[in-house]
Amino acid sequence: MVRKPAGKSKKLLLKGEKSKILLVGGGKMGRALLAGWKREGISSKKVLVVEPLDLNRDIISKEGFSYSKTLPEIEKFNPDVIIFAVKPDQIAGVLPWYYERFEKALFISIAAGITIEFIKKHSGIYARVVRAMPNLAATIGQGVTVVAGDNVLEAEYGDFITKLFSSVGSCYWAIEQYMDAVTAVSGSGPAYFFYLAECLMEAAEAHNIPKELAKNLVLQTMKGSALMAYDPDRPVSILRQEVTSPGGTTEAALKVLNQDNRFKNLIKEAVKAAAERAEKLTK
Ligand SMILES: NC(=O)c1ccc[n+]([C@@H]2O[C@H](COP(=O)([O-])OP(=O)(O)OC[C@H]3O[C@@H](n4cnc5c(N)ncnc54)[C@H](OP(=O)(O)O)[C@@H]3O)[C@@H](O)[C@H]2O)c1
Repeated sequence: MVRKPAGKSKKLLLKGEKSKILLVGGGKMGRALLAGWKREGISSKKVLVVEPLDLNRDIISKEGFSYSKTLPEIEKFNPDVIIFAVKPDQIAGVLPWYYERFEKALFISIAAGITIEFIKKHSGIYARVVRAMPNLAATIGQGVTVVAGDNVLEAEYGDFITKLFSSVGSCYWAIEQYMDAVTAVSGSGPAYFFYLAECLMEAAEAHNIPKELAKNLVLQTMKGSALMAYDPDRPVSILRQEVTSPGGTTEAALKVLNQDNRFKNLIKEAVKAAAERAEKLTK
């Protein structure tokens, strides 16, 4: 069941709020989280980052966070929460070292397709694991994250974990069975909208609209439509019908898009392919 988000930062001290957080992987998503925590007022003193690339380390330092230079430094930090933000194919190699040293820490993985069972298999069966799936829009604080974990962890740390991910957008809890589909819808989702924008820009240019104007037309249309789609009183299907006058221009386009349901079916096939790929990432 999808649960309602616990909401943005609360004034009360949340369970886990005093935690020391180790972020393993300071790449795109790791740095998006750091930026969110900074906005949220989480003290940089409570955060340590493990990141091998000098380029990323420089950015992390400039944002006011520390990165570890040595393994003893990580051991001394002794984190309460470890967030794994490395690539899915790197996580199995990374987990054992951390579990051997910090078996009581709460593990949060944001790796696509990596199940809680897989994480326990590569760390320990008693590992306390939560799985989260953010998306790229987290980099501008407009992401959406779905979190899954067992009921005990959710009851204990749910609000704190929600706070960590609400700092980069919306955060929802769901059962783990949804996660591959979530990955396919919102994890990969920004790429679908970027691709749609690319296609519409190309179509505009094919009608001799200058490149810059085509870009502005498409992006502002996408932004305006997304904002309108939040209208609580008018679902997107109604909004679509409102733009589509019988016999008009929009109807002509939608007839092409959805002849024999082809656009709808294509989107379903694409999401299915992404979900199946997510499922296979641990196999
Ligand atoms: N980007 C997205 O849109 C998105 C959305 C949802 C979920 N995710 C998930 O988020 C995770 C990170 O993705 P990303 O896009 O941020 O990837 P990324 O930019 O490649 O960042 C991962 C970083 O972790 C570093 N790393 C590798 N091994 C490490 C180790 N042992 N200890 C510490 N750091 C290590 C990598 O360094 P090297 O490059 O040297 O290996 C890299 O800088 C992935 O599992 C992905 O599935 C990403």
